[in-house]
Amino acid sequence: MFNNPHLILDSSAAPEPGSITWRSPSNIAIIKYWGKYGIQLPKNPSLSLTLASSCTDTNLEYSFKDDMPDGQIDLEFYFHQEENEAFRKKVLEFLKSLLPVFPFLSQLNLTVRTGNSFPHSAGIASSASAMSALALCLCSLEDKLFGTLRDQEVFDRKASYLARLGSGSACRSVFPHAAVWGETTHVKGSSNEYAVPVGNQIHEVFRNYHDDILIVSRAEKAVSSRAGHALMDGNPYAEPRYAQARVRLEALLHAMKTGDLETFGKIAEDEAMTLHALMMCSNPSYTLIRPDTLAIIEKVKQYRADTGHPVYFTLDAGPNVHLLYPGEIVHDVRAFIDEHLLEHCEDNYVQQDWVGEGPEEL
Ligand code: DP6
Repeated sequence: MFNNPHLILDSSAAPEPGSITWRSPSNIAIIKYWGKYGIQLPKNPSLSLTLASSCTDTNLEYSFKDDMPDGQIDLEFYFHQEENEAFRKKVLEFLKSLLPVFPFLSQLNLTVRTGNSFPHSAGIASSASAMSALALCLCSLEDKLFGTLRDQEVFDRKASYLARLGSGSACRSVFPHAAVWGETTHVKGSSNEYAVPVGNQIHEVFRNYHDDILIVSRAEKAVSSRAGHALMDGNPYAEPRYAQARVRLEALLHAMKTGDLETFGKIAEDEAMTLHALMMCSNPSYTLIRPDTLAIIEKVKQYRADTGHPVYFTLDAGPNVHLLYPGEIVHDVRAFIDEHLLEHCEDNYVQQDWVGEGPEEL
């Protein structure tokens, strides 16, 4: 939908070399994207909170190629200042797939330097922050070279679209506070192709809202998200699940508009359990949660019952537990984590995160 064969540089007016840097955050889905079709199109709409402290910084350096364009992309790639051939190959494949959108990429020498704000092997998925940061760099590059993305809404939409092609959930990271990806009659302008912001439609309690990520295991997942999505195709519960996500999205949006933390939390937890139940009844079946995941979940429920504090959990496609709670009880919840939950975390590691303002150009 964004293909543009006219985005070609005129060699007689070659651009000066330059550099672009974006910082982009991760996001945590409350309604989960699980199951896709075509090129990373979602089977159901999803809603996420944009995070603040789990980020990827990506710097893109470019210079005009002196030699004749050959349809190839020249790419150097550094992760945490170290050449990384495996990541380079992935990014190169992604950039090649974008040539119909950005034909000028084959006219440039490109160097990408990227790094995360959280430890590499922390068990925190980085595809959302990494793919959104790269997509934002590419849109800034287009705008610098051609002046075609001056309109903020158009810029964001294209960045979200490109991020989605890299990793579905990444398209939601482009927007502050909260975003919805996938067609739904409940969000104007929503699309399967890109996410749209809904941060301006939510109660202020969700602006000062926390997501502390309890790292139960840093180990790489036995089954990737990609493989997990694919297994939804043969899952007997797939269709009812997609219908359920639509119903839950409507209820969640209402709860978020009115600041109803209890309904929000109940839906968040139901979605987490549904996601993992879908994995367990895939064929072949698999389990990503660990005994410590369940121990944390039980303790969170007990803590809620004992204190009345609106602390809820969600899970992504792994064993780590995201604790969701409003800023006004941060002191109490952090004390609870230290005293009762750290023992379930690998190396006592917790990534403290919260709802953020979205990506920024550095
Ligand atoms: C459970 O976006 O990582 O976190 O599109 O194959 O890259 P790909 O998958 P990915 O899946 C995310 C799954 C999830 C739920 C969510 O973020 O909505």
